[in-house]
Amino acid sequence: MLDLQNAQEIIEKELKKLNIPDTPASLYEPVKYILSNGGKRIRPSIVLLTANLFSDDISDAINPALGIEVFHNFTLLHDDLMDNSLKRRGNETVHIKWTENIAILSGDAMSILAGQLMANTKAKQAKDMLRIFNKTAIEVCEGQMMDMEFEKRIDVSIEEYIRMIELKTSVLLAAGFQIGALAGGAKMEDAELLYEFGRNLGLAFQLQDDYLDTYGNYETFGKKIGGDILNNKKTYLAINALNLSDKIDKETLQIYMSSDHNDPQEKIEVVKTIFDKYNIPKITREKIDLYFNIAQANLTKLNLSDDKMSGMLSFFNSLKYREI
Ligand code: IPE
Ligand code: IPE
Ligand code: MG
Ligand code: MG
Ligand code: MG
Repeated sequence: MLDLQNAQEIIEKELKKLNIPDTPASLYEPVKYILSNGGKRIRPSIVLLTANLFSDDISDAINPALGIEVFHNFTLLHDDLMDNSLKRRGNETVHIKWTENIAILSGDAMSILAGQLMANTKAKQAKDMLRIFNKTAIEVCEGQMMDMEFEKRIDVSIEEYIRMIELKTSVLLAAGFQIGALAGGAKMEDAELLYEFGRNLGLAFQLQDDYLDTYGNYETFGKKIGGDILNNKKTYLAINALNLSDKIDKETLQIYMSSDHNDPQEKIEVVKTIFDKYNIPKITREKIDLYFNIAQANLTKLNLSDDKMSGMLSFFNSLKYREI
């Protein structure tokens, strides 16, 4: 049975075999750059590991897995532009290393390549796989738009936040499970149970990303610590701080979160001090655990053999305890 490391190795090998053209170099160099500069390969691993739950032969899952990873990397090019991020995976982001227009166009090409890869499979349920992928891709755009709109607001509710991260992040992990299951020949009923597992896992995953954005280490996380604070992102951390703080702290947060501040490092320090005062790290970790626990309960609804269940749980734990 495949484990996460095997799946990651297969993905690295198969990504290298993608025949990305050489010219125009300005279009394709960034594509090669983003596809080869690290990354945990969580989503394509999900596709392969889930296909392997239902079939020893995972060949029909390879291209769809690559398609999901290429799509994810496309969203990163555009996301880094929208978020004004300078670093990703410890390297310069594409719009910084090249230009904004290049990040847009290379991203566009990747989103089309992703769809081609997704459709290029002999799986019996290929049509359903493509339908799920297309629905998910649109949802990611919806979530990204909500994420940006929330930057301008200070009254975002927890419910709105959860819906936003469900769309921008969690549905892609969920789709990876469903598509992987179908590629392995699973019944739709099982594929849907896996989608639900992935949806909750994906919510925990984005909550962790928000937590690490403030409380992680640059060396491992590879993105600027405090970036969400600088962008006035309404993360779970920010929303709880706004909800729990007293009048004075709330006013301070509102002032710092409604504008660009002259001194970015000071803005990060002030906001983080308020987060700490109101126990936001602990509150966030509890919410992360809550979604991991719901996901784990979803998993028990599937009739998996003991060794397949323990394989899934070991993947689950590698996400649960991540620092990167
Ligand atoms: C980053 O995803 C974007 C989010 C949805 C949080 P990952 O943390 O999976 O990024 P890589 O691909 O491993 O760099
Ligand atoms: C991104 O969320 C979700 C995407 C669809 C790319 P973030 O903006 O939090 O992702 P990072 O932290 O930049 O990787
Ligand atoms: Mg971002
Ligand atoms: Mg973003
Ligand atoms: Mg983030």
